[in-house]
Amino acid sequence: MILVTGGTGFLGSHLLFSLAGGNKKIRALQRNRSSIDSVRKVFSYYTDNVEEFFSRISWVEGDMLDPFSLEDALDGVSRVYHAASAVSFDPSDRLSVINNNIEGTSNLVYACLKNGVEKLCYVSSVAAIGKGNEGELTTEKDIWKYSKRKSAYSTGKFHSEMEVWRGINEGLNAVIVNPSVILGPGNWTSGSPSFFYRVYRGMKYYTKGVTGFVDVRDVCSCMRGLMESPVTGERFILNSENLLYKELFDLIAGALGKPGPNVYASDKMLEMGWRLEWLRSKLFFSKPVFTKEMARAGRSRTFYSNEKIRETLPFAFRPVRETVEWTARIFLEETGRKNGL
Ligand SMILES: NC(=O)c1ccc[n+]([C@@H]2O[C@H](COP(=O)([O-])OP(=O)(O)OC[C@H]3O[C@@H](n4cnc5c(N)ncnc54)[C@H](OP(=O)(O)O)[C@@H]3O)[C@@H](O)[C@H]2O)c1
Repeated sequence: MILVTGGTGFLGSHLLFSLAGGNKKIRALQRNRSSIDSVRKVFSYYTDNVEEFFSRISWVEGDMLDPFSLEDALDGVSRVYHAASAVSFDPSDRLSVINNNIEGTSNLVYACLKNGVEKLCYVSSVAAIGKGNEGELTTEKDIWKYSKRKSAYSTGKFHSEMEVWRGINEGLNAVIVNPSVILGPGNWTSGSPSFFYRVYRGMKYYTKGVTGFVDVRDVCSCMRGLMESPVTGERFILNSENLLYKELFDLIAGALGKPGPNVYASDKMLEMGWRLEWLRSKLFFSKPVFTKEMARAGRSRTFYSNEKIRETLPFAFRPVRETVEWTARIFLEETGRKNGL
């Protein structure tokens, strides 16, 4: 039996579909407030027989913060894919993002060790990796360093990855994947799928930032490949290409038949932008849609290596253009059906 955490999220729901095609029984952790309708929607991107695949998953109620619920969820489980994570760039969620990630992963690692789980695949992030020297690609060997300027998400992911390394030192068989920005269809108003919605509605500004991008289907394939391999006690950056955000948004705009961003947002504009948005959110008691952490991410320039995973698995990443065209086609089909979001 396989257990998937975070199965109701973006990556987790694509992973569930990818696993549902295999011959192992699958159990997925669900919080009492989680919606599993979004999982059905993701399955519909791959098949017309949604219910047939969906019925292969048994849902178990639990919370990463409740160690007892994890022990129940792990009953009879030999393999675990851990994709649950608190993801937010809102400063008011700072402590909960850090604590939820660390405590949840720590609980799971303890439970896996106690229940004799054969292998764990933990979804970390490039946010838990340091930055390579100027002019060099960032690799798995670049160590994350603490700084007050790091986002809560990055801090939480680094410390949760440390929990997995602790488990490995205590005898847990585990692999860690560190994906760059994962692209694919999902909830169009959150996470990376929202790039498509934002470009569709008209995106004016671009920044100088560069980062890596990877197809959600490739992330799932690598995770499954690593779990089926004898590899253990290693981490792997999963990245297809490093692009300027502008290059990505231009690709999305082209695939959606919309104009791309054409006004350069300088560092000064970004600094002013998040402060104005902070003020607006305080005046209107709403969540900020652009934060200090997003401004920093927008101007950061990091180039990731994918050499290690390519040397470990017989695998070729899909080009970002292919991922964007696939995702844009689904976006247009859905928005066409619903006459806008
Ligand atoms: N998306 C990316 O570009 C990207 C890039 C690199 C790494 N990652 C990593 O990939 C993983 C999945 O990310 P995602 O984009 O799929 O995130 P997501 O869509 O926000 O999904 C997060 C999942 O975690 C679950 N979760 C959060 N807190 C939980 C808790 N206390 N107990 C049980 N479940 C909990 C959520 O459940 P509910 O449905 O109940 O909220 C949801 O299923 C994360 O580890 C993330 O750090 C993502």
